[in-house]
Amino acid sequence: MILDRDLVRAVVLCAGVLVSGAVCAEGDATRGAQVFRACTPCHSTVPGRHMTGPSLAHAWGRKAATAPGFTRYSDALRESHLTWDDATLDRWLTDPAKLVPGTAMAFPGLKDAQARADVIAYLHAVSEGKAPAAPKGGGMMGGMMGGGKIDLRKAPPAGQVTRLTHCKDTYTVTTADGRVEKVWEFNLRLKTDSSDLGPREGHPVAIGAGMQGDRASIVFAKPAEISPFIGAECRR
Ligand code: HEC
Repeated sequence: MILDRDLVRAVVLCAGVLVSGAVCAEGDATRGAQVFRACTPCHSTVPGRHMTGPSLAHAWGRKAATAPGFTRYSDALRESHLTWDDATLDRWLTDPAKLVPGTAMAFPGLKDAQARADVIAYLHAVSEGKAPAAPKGGGMMGGMMGGGKIDLRKAPPAGQVTRLTHCKDTYTVTTADGRVEKVWEFNLRLKTDSSDLGPREGHPVAIGAGMQGDRASIVFAKPAEISPFIGAECRR
């Protein structure tokens, strides 16, 4: 009997995936780069650039929960003893909380088997340094995004906070473009970003859709900077 070797290989490769109940889909890394847009709010593919989730620069082929420098893994993922390959990633991305109950990845999963196969092919290519062009971060601060995260050191003058005072229930924010805005204290979030994309010390940055509304934030380099920066200036 003559066996077609490639066919046998394909059947064997698919078997592991079939057991998990998925269809056997061939992944395409270029399409996967597009699928990865669903992941960029929480993940970058730049080594060491952690966001809500760990950098996925070297996830493929590694043991779960071992990205260097990521300090927020759940105990559940740490104790899962998984290694990320095509089969485990397919199960993970189908339903993270089902594979690892108690995981901190708040993502419902990708129901489309082809989309999963594509994004897995992308992660594989990324880990081998052969990733197709990284998807561009969109949004209003598009030009400042790098691997899904805003580079606050490149903030335009309208984002550079030169003065911040607090009086009664109101913050008064002065930016380097000369604007002075009054914001209800409950609408302003004070955050820190100590990463290499965070603001320089003493140079906090305002982000958000204008200072009004409840989405404005001022980002500092570290917590200890916050109180001293805020002048308590109350002449009313
Ligand atoms: C809402 C934020 C969020 C989204 C969206 C998200 N993830 Fe995650 N991801 C996380 C968090 C948080 C963890 C860490 C989970 C834990 O510790 O339990 C994680 C972990 C992972 C891991 C394991 C990494 C490791 O070091 O072991 C992989 C792989 C992964 N995500 C892939 C993806 C992919 C692919 C997508 C898009 C299809 C995605 N994630 C979407 C937040 C997210």
